[in-house]
Amino acid sequence: MRTQVGIIGSGPSGLLLSQILFLHGIDSVILERQSRDHVLGRIRAGVLEQSTVDMLRAASVGERMDREGLVHGGFSLAFDGRMEYIDMHKWTGGSGVMVYGQTELTRDLIEARMADGAVIEYEAPAVAIDGFLDGKPRIIYEKKGERRELLCDFVAGCDGYHGISRQSAGPGSIKEFEKVYPFGWLGILSDVPPVDRELIYTNHERGFALCSMRSHTRSRYYIQCDLNDNVDIWTDDAFWDELRRRLPETAAQKLVTGPRLEMSIAPLRSFVAEPMRFGALLLAGDAAHIVPPTGAKGLNLAASDVHYLSRALIVYYAEKRTDLLDRYSDTCLRRVWKAVRFSWWFTAMMHKFGDEPLCQRLQLAELDYLTGSEAARTAMAENYVGLPFDRFE
Ligand code: FAD
Ligand code: DHB
Repeated sequence: MRTQVGIIGSGPSGLLLSQILFLHGIDSVILERQSRDHVLGRIRAGVLEQSTVDMLRAASVGERMDREGLVHGGFSLAFDGRMEYIDMHKWTGGSGVMVYGQTELTRDLIEARMADGAVIEYEAPAVAIDGFLDGKPRIIYEKKGERRELLCDFVAGCDGYHGISRQSAGPGSIKEFEKVYPFGWLGILSDVPPVDRELIYTNHERGFALCSMRSHTRSRYYIQCDLNDNVDIWTDDAFWDELRRRLPETAAQKLVTGPRLEMSIAPLRSFVAEPMRFGALLLAGDAAHIVPPTGAKGLNLAASDVHYLSRALIVYYAEKRTDLLDRYSDTCLRRVWKAVRFSWWFTAMMHKFGDEPLCQRLQLAELDYLTGSEAARTAMAENYVGLPFDRFE
């Protein structure tokens, strides 16, 4: 099989890239290790930055999001018995975020690609990539027990943190930066009305908690948990009791509980691989970087990589210009590092790192400063809604 852009991975980055390229007359084939049902069953991100929302609309996949998504103009920070509102709308001159599940976004993208006759090979793991440094890129993959090859002009490595794209670059040509956090997030999805109209991020002496949602009738809650916890030891009641203990009184009283639709534990990690381009192999999304989920940045960074990558490929095919491809890695990484910094900072301020009283007092002092200073609130709000894309022409 031959195509212009071979895409490994049908997560948000691979699907969105394929959709934008299609709208510009560029062919792609997506190889996905898992089944379509598995991809659609994963519960992950829920918060889209304004620029991600704009990209989805421009890619003709924003219709259901605009109908069903929830526009939020702010969120609350709870700490020390207080609840303070960060008015993103006010402090950014009108920006906000859209609460719309990654699962729904993935479904919209798959449906759009299938309607246009795209080739998405499910249960087709890529096992090797070669030729990307000598102008003959090739992806070897498996399908129904057979080895097959996909020849292409470019390989887009959109295969997440555990994929093969980054590993194919070779250890000598890549530099990795990593921090693994000593706790995880235990998340529950349940068909109960959310505790508040917008999100609540809580710093509590028992650990972090987050109240999020997917709709007016479906809630998503997270609590900081031990890294060695197994989901099986957490009953629904144990989860709700622990969440209630960590919430401010007013929220705890309004909490409606119900059976889980899903419960899972996510580890927390900050990770960046440099560079993001190796000849005709270009990495995007979690394949190149991971952030702890506190700032809701992972999916949004995947979208900003796709913004730059799609522009570079469109300009290459239209004008045979390679300068944007040459600048792809540096341009992405500038924005990536700022989001990595923001996610690390927000994580450090909100989680329990141990029993040291000094650290707890410093966190409370920082939260007090942040919510009391117009400059600090503005910085928080502009990072949360998403920093602007660099010019890339
Ligand atoms: P992925 O979604 O990981 O997709 C990669 C795909 O590649 C997968 O389908 C995988 O099966 C496939 N693959 C892997 N190896 C191969 C192979 N060899 N061959 C073929 N296919 C392969 N982000 C936000 O922006 N906002 C949030 O609110 C947020 N909340 C989160 C909450 C949780 C609990 C978690 C876990 C994450 C959250 N994130 C959030 C992060 C976000 O989900 C990820 O950053 C996002 O999924 C990255 O998309 P991606 O397409 O780059 O990678
Ligand atoms: C969600 C996840 C996040 O990491 C976050 O910061 C906000 C919301 C969510 O899954 O809804």
